[in-house]
Amino acid sequence: MVAMALRLAVCALASLAVASPSVIGAEQQQPLGSVDGQHGTTKALISELKKAEIIPTVIDVFTPLLTVSIVWEKATADVGNTLDPAKLQEAPSVQLIDQSPDASSSTVQLTIALTDPDAPSRDEPEWSEICHWIATGVHRTDADDADELSSRLSKSKTKVKDIMPYKPPGPPPKTGKHRYVFVALAPKNGTTEKLSLSKPGDRQHWGYGEEGVGLRKWAGENGLEVVGANFIYAQNEKQ
Ligand SMILES: *[C@@H]1O[C@H](CO)[C@@H](O)[C@H](O)[C@H]1NC(C)=O
Repeated sequence: MVAMALRLAVCALASLAVASPSVIGAEQQQPLGSVDGQHGTTKALISELKKAEIIPTVIDVFTPLLTVSIVWEKATADVGNTLDPAKLQEAPSVQLIDQSPDASSSTVQLTIALTDPDAPSRDEPEWSEICHWIATGVHRTDADDADELSSRLSKSKTKVKDIMPYKPPGPPPKTGKHRYVFVALAPKNGTTEKLSLSKPGDRQHWGYGEEGVGLRKWAGENGLEVVGANFIYAQNEKQ
C-alpha cells in the first residue's frame, strides 16, 4: 500500500520535473542489472562501458557508487540505448541514486557532466571531446529511503547550477552513431565544502585544444573522481 502510494507520488514528481531541468525526488528506477543486486549492477555497468569503449577512451575503470538516472520528457538514458536527438533538446532531469542504504549519507557536492568523444565522428574524432554540459549541486537520492518524500518534494525545486550550459546532442549528418556519456563526479578528497569548479574555455576539446582530451583532464584538474555513469547513442537521421 505504502509502496503503491509512493509510486503514484513518484509519477507525479516525474511529470513535474519535466517542466524544468531540476533534480527530482525518488523516482522508482530500475538500474541496469538491478535484479542481480548491487554487485551485478556494478559489473554490468562497467562491462557495458568497456564494450562501448567509453572505458578507457573517456574514463578509467571506477567503482560505481551512484546510479545515474537521466530522464528527458520523452526519452530515458539506459546505458547504451539509441535515442532520437529531437527528443533531447531540453536539459534532462538528473537523479543520482544511492544504491547502498547503509552508506553514510554524504553531503559532498555532486556534479554531472555530458561529453561527446565522437565529434565529428567516432572514426575521426578530431574535435573530441565536446563538452555538452556540466552542472553541479546535484542531490543524492537514497533508493531505500521512502520516509523523506516530502523533503524531496521541496528539494525538487532546487535547481542544479550550470558550469557549462546544456547543449543538446546534435550529431552532424553522415557521421554515424555518437556516444553521449554522462558521468557523475564527486570530490576525490571527500570534502563536504563548497567547490569552485572551473568553466572550460570552450566546448571543443573542453578548451584544452587537443584531440581526445576532455572530461578526464577537467575532472582531474578540479579534484573530482568518477562515481557513476550512463550513456546513450544518437545519430543524425541523414546517414
Ligand atoms: C579537497 O579538494 C578540493 C577540490 O580539489 C579543494 O578545493 C580542497 O582544498 C581540498 N580539501 C582538502 C582538505 O584537501
